[in-house]
Amino acid sequence: MKTKILMVCLGNICRSPLAEGILTAMINPDNVAVDSAGTGNWHVGDKPDKRSITVALKNGIDITQQRGKQFSTYDYEIYDHIFVMDATNYSDVIKLATSHTEKAKVSMILDEIFPGEAVDVPDPYYGGDTGFDNVYAMLYTACEKIVSRLAI
Ligand code: 4NP
Repeated sequence: MKTKILMVCLGNICRSPLAEGILTAMINPDNVAVDSAGTGNWHVGDKPDKRSITVALKNGIDITQQRGKQFSTYDYEIYDHIFVMDATNYSDVIKLATSHTEKAKVSMILDEIFPGEAVDVPDPYYGGDTGFDNVYAMLYTACEKIVSRLAI
């Protein structure tokens, strides 16, 4: 059975599409499926933010085929691991869990680098391009850790 991983942020246009693209580039698609979603619904059906597309392309990753979707309680049935970008995403996603098993699937992605410190991936939406470079670098390191910890 494939390991199914979901990356979650607020809008599903800046951070989680990058996390999806980065992790997808690191895994074997025969064994692992990676997707992303937002807790909000404003960008359902939208392409990722141009600045996320640009920083990904600069690093050899094409995320232009991705389209925004909203996180739903049904995702708990589909995915094995749900990585959220910040503490607000964490509480919004956990609220929709219906069991301890579901709650245990959720973690903050930067816990991979800074365990137990509850460090947020900063939302780069209202900032400049440097914010996107920083987010890319953080997510890259976190995804490397995910690959090694989960042995995927
Ligand atoms: P993201 O950034 O959660 O990293 O995709 C945002 C994108 C859009 C909005 C908020 C955050 N928005 O309010 O539209």
